[in-house]
Amino acid sequence: MDPRLAPFPASRPRRLRQSPAIRALVQENTLSVDDLIWPVFVRDGVNEEEAVVSMPGVTRKSVDLIVKAAKEAWSLGIPAICLFPYIDPALKTEDCAGAWDPDNLSNTAIRAIKDAVPDMAVMTDVALDPYNINGHDGYVVDGEIVNDRTVEALVKMTLAQADAGADIIGPSDMMDGRIGAMRKALEDAGHSRVTIMSYAAKYASAFYGPFRDAVGASGALKGDKKTYQMNPGNSDEALRLVARDLEEGADMVMIKPGMPYLDIIRRVKDSFGAPTFAYQVSGEYAMIRAAALNGWVDGEKIMMESLLGFKRAGCDGVLTYFAPEAAKILNG
Ligand code: PBG
Repeated sequence: MDPRLAPFPASRPRRLRQSPAIRALVQENTLSVDDLIWPVFVRDGVNEEEAVVSMPGVTRKSVDLIVKAAKEAWSLGIPAICLFPYIDPALKTEDCAGAWDPDNLSNTAIRAIKDAVPDMAVMTDVALDPYNINGHDGYVVDGEIVNDRTVEALVKMTLAQADAGADIIGPSDMMDGRIGAMRKALEDAGHSRVTIMSYAAKYASAFYGPFRDAVGASGALKGDKKTYQMNPGNSDEALRLVARDLEEGADMVMIKPGMPYLDIIRRVKDSFGAPTFAYQVSGEYAMIRAAALNGWVDGEKIMMESLLGFKRAGCDGVLTYFAPEAAKILNG
């Protein structure tokens, strides 16, 4: 594209900004409810709902209330919901066996949602952290997060989720070789329809703090995740990881966090043209919400502008805790 304009006054760029109608005609990117994936937190019990203090407006819900919320989200036009379980700290173990229990919270919620709203896509989280006594996404042996043994556990977890009816498997663990292992296991088990959205470029970020409160991992986590999640200073590495995950069989890729990494989204989309998603993570949500609750910014406008920014950067869709609120605005 030749970006040159005719000399002024033949060219007056403000002509195209003069009215809502003209601005709408020339708008390059738009946000739609079809772009939204809603992450939610599942807890045990019946008719239970408790606030996540560091994420005002977000709650942990028991399965019955998650189903109700999924129905509402589907009626707003939101195509997908993503489940994260809150596991009682007393139930966390070293072997993380709860992760592939067919009747664990997450798998119970998958079945209940697919029963009530069969056409809604259900996405899962594959990582050991909610179940791990150490709070890490992988097994910890002698202070080290071990890769290959973790991948074996993640494969079992994936198969249990697929058996429960999951549509999108979301490996957020950042172990090496997991996408290929999961894809092979899914194919071998007859789950060739089940898709994988790889957290391909997931950075070791302080923006995950409120999420770790939400899933009860903050207290358990010892140390940091820098030996498996990416260094925030790196960009080329993200392209190598996305290439690898696509080659191993990822159907869709994700960049995470979102707003501080829009440059990575653009590079990934331009390099591969694959279905590309961003996760507007808990810390991003908390910052916007906190500023809005203080009256320092217009919360609705900032929410919509931040989501449109992901589309402009090259995303096909966004995981966002704002999904229902944004959908209501988009639906007028
Ligand atoms: C862990 C996981 C994390 C998030 C999703 N899956 C946190 C982490 O890696 O510590 C973060 C989501 C958010 O902050 O909203 N497997």
